[in-house]
Amino acid sequence: MTSLGNEGRDGFSSRFGIICAAAGSAIGLGNIWRFPYIAGESGGGAFLLIYLGFILMLGIPVMLSEFVIGRRGQRNALGSFKRLAPGKPWYFVGVMGIIAAFMILAFYSTIAGWTLEYIVKAISNSFAGKSSGEIEQMFNAFHTQAFRPILWQLIFMFMTVWIIMSGVRQGIERYAKILMPFLVLLLIIMAIRSITLPGAVEGLSFLFKPDFSAVDSSVLLAALGQAFFSLSIGMGTLITYGSYIQKKNKLGNLAIEVSMADTLIAILAGVAIFPAVFAFGVDPAGGPGLIFNVLPGIFQQMPGGYFFAIIFFVLLSIAALTSSISILEVVVAYMTEELKMSRRKATIMSALAATFVGLFCTLSFGPLKGLTITGLSIFDLLDYTASNLLLPLGGLMIVLFVGWYMKDADFKDELSNKGLLKVRIFGVLMFLLKFIAPVAIALILLNSLGFIGPVDGGTEHSN
Ligand code: PFF
Repeated sequence: MTSLGNEGRDGFSSRFGIICAAAGSAIGLGNIWRFPYIAGESGGGAFLLIYLGFILMLGIPVMLSEFVIGRRGQRNALGSFKRLAPGKPWYFVGVMGIIAAFMILAFYSTIAGWTLEYIVKAISNSFAGKSSGEIEQMFNAFHTQAFRPILWQLIFMFMTVWIIMSGVRQGIERYAKILMPFLVLLLIIMAIRSITLPGAVEGLSFLFKPDFSAVDSSVLLAALGQAFFSLSIGMGTLITYGSYIQKKNKLGNLAIEVSMADTLIAILAGVAIFPAVFAFGVDPAGGPGLIFNVLPGIFQQMPGGYFFAIIFFVLLSIAALTSSISILEVVVAYMTEELKMSRRKATIMSALAATFVGLFCTLSFGPLKGLTITGLSIFDLLDYTASNLLLPLGGLMIVLFVGWYMKDADFKDELSNKGLLKVRIFGVLMFLLKFIAPVAIALILLNSLGFIGPVDGGTEHSN
């Protein structure tokens, strides 16, 4: 009956609870909103293959490392490093993670707000009878306003705060557990409708037929950023969750299961979106509005589409919530454990700060559209900095920490639950952690920042 985990801390009570919470963090707007739009901007098939390679070679090792650091450190992202490497500057990885958390939550809540608006649009049957041009117009009329998108953003942040304040187990676990299988089912149904639309084949070949001629350093960086964003890694979210995992649970299995579920859902979203993108003549490289311009058209062409649309946007909002609470939890766990604040105060203060930045993200599609920094809108700048730079940099430090700073024996001890489990492919894993992952991440970062390799203008972003 107790919900207490290790060292008397609040924690996840069951194996199922952990899987749901970690998968709940990973699965969210990143899979359904961000993956299709980034894949669309990055040329499709080749991006997908590179993305899959990154998940396997870099993503799973980083995720596993985060779980290990968290469960061994028994603290928040920053505190775990302080505890495992006392007196050393490794805790800076936690500081970066907290900064990334604010940035991501800021723009995440913008998009989550759009999702809430689309629940209302679905209920009021606003998609019915509209051409794809009219659907795009409807989206533009909405997201370039100031008032409504902000109102939804505030409502979303309010819901996030409310869940976080009810505590780890009751909060995160309960909400994460329930509804994700339904989302998968719905995506499958939508994918089937999408691939049976006339003209759908073109979308499938866009997604699955790689054209490597278009791959440059910016595509590599985009795939790396998307892999990290989607898996919720590189900023200590899974260190924080790792600290709530009981000593008897198997970290290796968890990392593999969560990564696989996350990746399958992204692919499923791709299969639901791209055939329809081409069938409706929408621009695949159209940016963050992609799913809002395409999905209503799919529902329109489905029997029972009215209901499917409502359920879909509700589930997507819930998926966004189980991710946003994991982002805010990084900051809240830090503030309660290191700064000794009450959970309530920490939650409210950090949410207010993230919301403040978030307002600028939302407005950057409307009234603040003209405001750009290095050619990027505020929204794009935060997304780019957090997802493509901070997360990979955090991931790099995390694999260096586990691969080189931590003793191999300690790592193995944590992975094997003190020798109880047999850790297969330990050698391969160490090789990935020590050499492949750090070198690959460092090369991609350096290359895209223009420090090494062919200068291809991939990071100019001048549009
Ligand atoms: N992985 C989440 C998604 O795909 O929507 C977003 C996210 C959550 C990113 C937590 C980073 C993070 F730490």
